[in-house]
Amino acid sequence: MEQLRFIELPKMLDERGNLSVVENGANLPFEIGGSAWLYDFRDGEKWQNKHLGGKDELVIALSGGFEVKVEDGECCKSFNLNRPYRALYVPKGLQWQMSNFTTNAVAFVLSAEKGDGRSACDDDFGGKIVPLNNAPCLQGRITFVKNGDGAPFDVKRAYYLYDVPAGESRGAHAHKALKQLVVAVVGSFNITLDDGAEKRTYTLNRPGEALEVGPGMWRTLDGFSSGAICLVLASEVYTAADYIRDYDEFLEYKKQQNK
Ligand code: TYD
Repeated sequence: MEQLRFIELPKMLDERGNLSVVENGANLPFEIGGSAWLYDFRDGEKWQNKHLGGKDELVIALSGGFEVKVEDGECCKSFNLNRPYRALYVPKGLQWQMSNFTTNAVAFVLSAEKGDGRSACDDDFGGKIVPLNNAPCLQGRITFVKNGDGAPFDVKRAYYLYDVPAGESRGAHAHKALKQLVVAVVGSFNITLDDGAEKRTYTLNRPGEALEVGPGMWRTLDGFSSGAICLVLASEVYTAADYIRDYDEFLEYKKQQNK
C-alpha cells in the first residue's frame, strides 16, 4: 500500500489546447505493456481491475470522473479521479475497482501486463484506420491495445490533447521514426495526413478504432468538437530531434528518402 499514490503528470498548457503525457523511463513507475480505455459506463456499475491483468497499473480519468477503491485484504483506500493530469499508480497485487462514474467518464488504464503475439503492419500510404480490441461488457465498453498482441508496435508513451478551443488546430509536423495510433476517445476531430505527394483527411469519432500513422507523414489535426479528447499511443518516448516542424524541410526530407 505504501507505493499506492497519485502521480502528477505534465500539463502543457497551450492556447491551442492542453496536452499531458506519460512515458516509459520518465513519469511511469513501470514499462507500458498494455493500455485500455473504458467508457459508456452504465449507471450504478462498478468495474473491477481483474479484466486488465493485475500487474502494476496507472489509472487516469481522461474525461469526467469516478472513484477508485483499492484493497489489499485488510484495508481499503478510496480516491477520486477527475483530472486528466493526475494519475493513480496502483502497484501489482492490489485489487481495485472503479465506481460512481459521471456520465461522460472515460478511464484510461496503463498496465505492465503485455500480450504475447505480434501482427504485422503493411500499408504503403502510412496511414490507415485500424479496428482495436473491443469488448462490450455489462458495465460499459473497453478498448485495449496490448504490446505484442495485435499492436503494430510496442507502445512506450501515451499522450492526450484536451480542452482544445473551437477552431484551433494542432500538430502541424512530421516525425522521422515515430509510429502512432491516434484515437478519438471523446468527441471527434479531423486528421489530415500528407506523405508529400498525397493528402488524405480522416474523421475520427469512435473510441474503438484508431488511425495508425507511420513515420514520414505530415499530420494536422483540426475540427475538434467540444470536449473532444485525442489520445495518441506512440512507439517511442518523446524526442524533440524526431520532429520535422517546417513543411519545406519535410518536402526536402521526403525527396531525400524517395531517392
Ligand atoms: P507537439 O507535439 O509539438 O504538439 P503540437 O504539434 O500539436 O503543438 O507538443 C506540444 C508541446 O508539448 C511541445 O512543446 C513538446 C511538448 N511535448 C512533450 O514534452 N512530450 C510529449 O510527449 C509531447 C507529445 C509533447
